[in-house]
Amino acid sequence: MAPPGLLSLCVLILVVMPHRAYGSGRGPFGRKNGAATTADSGICATSVTIYGYKCEEHEVTTQDGFILNMQRIPEGRVGGNSTGGNKKQPVLIQHGVLVDGMTWLLNSPEQNLPMILADNGFDVWIANSRGTRFSRKHASLDPSQPDFWNWSWDELVTYDLPAVFDFVFNQTGQKIHYIGHSQGTLIGLASFSEGHQAGKLKSAVFLSPIAYLSHMTTALGVVAAKAFVGEITTLLGIAEFNPKGKEVTVFLNSLCNYPGVDCYDLLNALTGNNCCLNLSTANIFLKNEPQSTATKNMVHFAQTVRDGVLAKYNYGRPDYNVMHYGEDTPPLYNISNIPHDLPIFMSYGGLDALSDVQDVQLLLDHLKFHDVGKLTVQYIKNYAHADFIMGISAKDIVYNQVVQFFKNHQ
Ligand SMILES: *[C@@H]1O[C@H](CO)[C@@H](O)[C@H](O)[C@H]1NC(C)=O
Ligand SMILES: *[C@@H]1O[C@H](CO)[C@@H](O)[C@H](O)[C@H]1NC(C)=O
Ligand SMILES: *[C@@H]1O[C@H](CO)[C@@H](O)[C@H](O)[C@H]1NC(C)=O
Ligand SMILES: *[C@@H]1O[C@H](CO)[C@@H](O)[C@H](O)[C@H]1NC(C)=O
Ligand SMILES: *[C@@H]1O[C@H](CO)[C@@H](O)[C@H](O)[C@H]1NC(C)=O
Repeated sequence: MAPPGLLSLCVLILVVMPHRAYGSGRGPFGRKNGAATTADSGICATSVTIYGYKCEEHEVTTQDGFILNMQRIPEGRVGGNSTGGNKKQPVLIQHGVLVDGMTWLLNSPEQNLPMILADNGFDVWIANSRGTRFSRKHASLDPSQPDFWNWSWDELVTYDLPAVFDFVFNQTGQKIHYIGHSQGTLIGLASFSEGHQAGKLKSAVFLSPIAYLSHMTTALGVVAAKAFVGEITTLLGIAEFNPKGKEVTVFLNSLCNYPGVDCYDLLNALTGNNCCLNLSTANIFLKNEPQSTATKNMVHFAQTVRDGVLAKYNYGRPDYNVMHYGEDTPPLYNISNIPHDLPIFMSYGGLDALSDVQDVQLLLDHLKFHDVGKLTVQYIKNYAHADFIMGISAKDIVYNQVVQFFKNHQ
């Protein structure tokens, strides 16, 4: 679920603190060095086939060597046929930062997005970003090597997303409906603005959209973003940002001691803001997440909070930026360049501390030239960040509209 610097950190606090109650820091599926095997402990086996759905595990290699795990739910439980006798249309679902694809599957089959889509005749593909539990393999690197973690969401835009799009397109021969949550919206927006998936994309759904982050105003968030940009190397000195690791826990505790930052209240505030979580689902969530990401990615998020623009990773020195980009400052992603005729459905919540309403307005401002009728925006007053992936009312309020949106754009 989570997102950006301060966002991520808020969510981190949210998930890390309660997680300690479980003691071991090892979920029911454990976590090995490198990738776990997916045959009997993967997401298909633990979360999909147990409900009577078919599910395939896939591996997709990015151009920079990462081997990503994907799940495919090719059909629904009942009536595997698509409407109108056409080939089933593929939907690609992309999770947020610090979690993996399993977060979509924690509620019952009647309530979770992938299975609802499968039951409605779609061919469902679930992505797992590099660094998460089942995507910790690389052609030549090992997660224990710092080089394995030398990336930010720029690389998710440049490598991960194209790899999974190409793979699904190749397997299905059809244009793809995209769904992103949180960081999944960010990389989708950035990618589509650069024209990357133009020929392979049919429509896009953005839940809890994240692009501009400057309106996050919680004390912890602000402190976190500053700390992240300023002290990251000295304080953490690590390449892998493992929310369950000792360094990160110490780091977060130190932030919580800043004047004005009250992590206990924040935790309550964040948890309470999600109107509609099922307690037992939330508990499963806490046991399975959060997942690792690159520290560099967290720094990039913190830069986004600090700078208020959507730009590539800032190397922190003009000469370094020149080396990487040929310019003093990192190039901007221009959201206005998203093809104006791309069908978009966007849904955001009034209580979302991470995808702040003002930041969403800024994002919508950049889409003001979008073709009339191609942009549908849904505002859900009492929804917060996690309601979009785990809310027990999400089917009625959000997912049914997503299904209808896809059916309208076959
Ligand atoms: C699905 O299609 C096949 C052949 O096209 C047909 O025999 C079968 O009855 C259909 N199943 C359902 C549930 O509609
Ligand atoms: C990380 O990757 C960049 C290219 O994206 C490269 O310029 C840089 O040297 C790498 N850093 C390390 C520590 O390997
Ligand atoms: C998928 O890729 C293989 C080669 O890797 C190619 O032969 C095949 O035609 C591709 N299929 C589609 C639908 O693009
Ligand atoms: C909450 O989750 C539990 C366990 O999955 C389930 O039995 C229960 O029906 C759920 N409650 C609601 C309101 O969905
Ligand atoms: C972004 O793209 C739009 C056209 O799609 C253009 O009008 C605008 O000037 C661009 N903004 C920047 C900052 O380059």
